[in-house]
Amino acid sequence: MAFVIDGKEAAASVISAVTEASASLEAKAGIKPGLAVVIVGNDPASHAYVNSKSKMAKQCGFNSIQHTLPEDTTQGELQALVDTLNADPSVHGILVQLPLPKHFDSDAIIQSILPEKDVDGLNIANAGKIATGDLLTGLISCTPAGAMLLVKRVHGEDLSGLNAVVIGRSNLFGKPMGLLLLAANATVTMAHSRTRDLASVCANADILVAAVGRAEMVRRDWVKPGATVIDVGINRVPAPEKGEGKTKLVGDVAFAEASEVAASITPVPGGVGPMTIAMLMANTVIAAHRVAGLGAPKF
Ligand code: GUN
Repeated sequence: MAFVIDGKEAAASVISAVTEASASLEAKAGIKPGLAVVIVGNDPASHAYVNSKSKMAKQCGFNSIQHTLPEDTTQGELQALVDTLNADPSVHGILVQLPLPKHFDSDAIIQSILPEKDVDGLNIANAGKIATGDLLTGLISCTPAGAMLLVKRVHGEDLSGLNAVVIGRSNLFGKPMGLLLLAANATVTMAHSRTRDLASVCANADILVAAVGRAEMVRRDWVKPGATVIDVGINRVPAPEKGEGKTKLVGDVAFAEASEVAASITPVPGGVGPMTIAMLMANTVIAAHRVAGLGAPKF
């Protein structure tokens, strides 16, 4: 049986370091990190995520601001809010929850967030820094940063000689994850829905990262014996065994099968999920340190 990587415990240790860094910044420079989270519309899953982000920000000692806007908000209204938050010196981090309702040009909104306040790491300036190997002066997208922290807990800082396969090529996760693995010297394959014979590509991976959004797609024979498996999927599926109409969360990896072959594996829930919020807090405290002209803590 594989070692189960405990994302909750790793996230708690990041949160405790962030809370300390936040208190020390306030004591030294009189600056309280400010995180503004913006949500538009009524998607219940997005509301649940945003509420836990706002709650965690308070727990870290931040000034936590949540803007909840109605579904029929216009592009201009949302843009005006982002402009106001960009100009507000008490706000160090801005997160606009995705996906936005269909009538928005999401990219225009996301790219208008100042790079130094872009705690999601989605601005082209931040994405470009990772692509050019600068992991120190920008802000790194939270889920890949969190997944990478779990990989490093297993393998250390240097992944030389290891084959890593990332399934999924989104801007929010797959692309930055591939680049972070590459920066740590792994040999990286970025696989996706058009990859031929995905199973055999994955079976070559010492580190297999799945972010496809398809419940339990990665099966036992996709996993190389002894591999590290990082499951980024969060899929809600029917769970009749729990009672009529009940559901449960599963990842993109068939956990029970894969954990018979892998050496280490992240569970869902309790793996990468908690790390995303922890790294969002880390990015916010880093952004606030930079404004204060103080060296940013590392996580
Ligand atoms: N929706 C799902 N995950 C994320 C995320 O990491 N950032 C934003 N802004 N929206 C999301």
